[in-house]
Amino acid sequence: MDEPRFLKACRRQPVDCTPVWMMRQAGRYMKEYRELRQRYSMLEVCKNPELSLQVTMQPIQRFNLDAAIIFADILLPLEGMGVGFGFQPDHGPVIHQPLRDVRAMAKVRVCDPQQSLGFVLQALRLVRAELDASIALIGFAGAPFTLASYMIEGGHSRNFLHTKRLMYEHPQAWQGLMEKVAETTADYLRAQAEAGAQALQLFDSWVGCLSPGDYDAYVFPHVQSIFSRLSTLNIPLIYFGTGTATLLPRFKQCGATVIGVDWRVPLRQAFDLLGDGLAIQGNLDPVALFAPRNLLLNKVDQLLDEAAGRPGHIFNLGHGILPATPVENVEAVIERVHDKTRRTGAAE
Ligand code: CP3
Repeated sequence: MDEPRFLKACRRQPVDCTPVWMMRQAGRYMKEYRELRQRYSMLEVCKNPELSLQVTMQPIQRFNLDAAIIFADILLPLEGMGVGFGFQPDHGPVIHQPLRDVRAMAKVRVCDPQQSLGFVLQALRLVRAELDASIALIGFAGAPFTLASYMIEGGHSRNFLHTKRLMYEHPQAWQGLMEKVAETTADYLRAQAEAGAQALQLFDSWVGCLSPGDYDAYVFPHVQSIFSRLSTLNIPLIYFGTGTATLLPRFKQCGATVIGVDWRVPLRQAFDLLGDGLAIQGNLDPVALFAPRNLLLNKVDQLLDEAAGRPGHIFNLGHGILPATPVENVEAVIERVHDKTRRTGAAE
């Protein structure tokens, strides 16, 4: 069986057409998901490998996607690290006791993924056994800054005030916390690869709130340390963030082989900056999926024109799909990308 076109594109090899997947492709915009969530809480789904398998497969069964992403959440490792949290309906994640001082930061533990995240690893094994060989399986984790910001703020934040204050006031304690998150994350991602993930994505969703100087000083070494620990796996490593236009030049050296960009960066610019060595993933505005069909498809065409058939484009949204997204538009986008980019004679 031929290798999934998603994996080929990650390696910047020729493909028969541009691969597509969508961040948060399993979720509330799907009726099947909403039905299951009436019976089980978010954490129950995440911690039950059979249910996680079922939800991971929902978008795969419904659409012509080129990759499945394991159904889990970036916050799952927090429990094993000693930071309790829950999901509140309509409020997102809530950390029970946010870390607000050096003592609390020092108490965070490195956790062993086999011990505390075995349910995700088991779900990966189940999905890989069920998935068609032409569809790739993606594992993921939260990046150190984004995870630390949840631990410290206690939930989502507009200004990241508590996080940046701790970072500035207690740089040593900050670096210590980041090292513990980086070690846990690297071990967790490696375990996911061993359980069947064929590519790994590190979500640094909120890193764009940092100045480039602060990114260099407080975050970059930890991102680099994760990717360097994973390099021997020889599988695609994806680094994704939003609001990263001014950070992209740094990403060249972070050790990832694919960079995910949001819609605020013109795709052409991302390719010009990074595309001679790295693959690019992105970057349709998730809100474009609410536009009239013609406008939506024009936007897809424009993106594909910007990518201009260069090797190493993976079509995706610039951030997660939104809960009210019309399902038919998701389908239309996937079909359009495949149709518009189909090449004959390539990737034999
Ligand atoms: O992509 C996928 O389909 C895999 C599943 C996935 C989830 N979370 C499921 C989820 C992935 C990849 C994530 C990553 C994640 N989780 C991120 C990084 C990506 C991003 O969107 O920036 C972040 C920041 C989180 C933390 C988190 N989890 C938030 C902010 C929320 C609430 C927002 C929301 O949509 O309600 C969650 C809950 C969550 N994680 C849901 C899902 C499907 C919604 C749960 C529900 O109500 O059913």
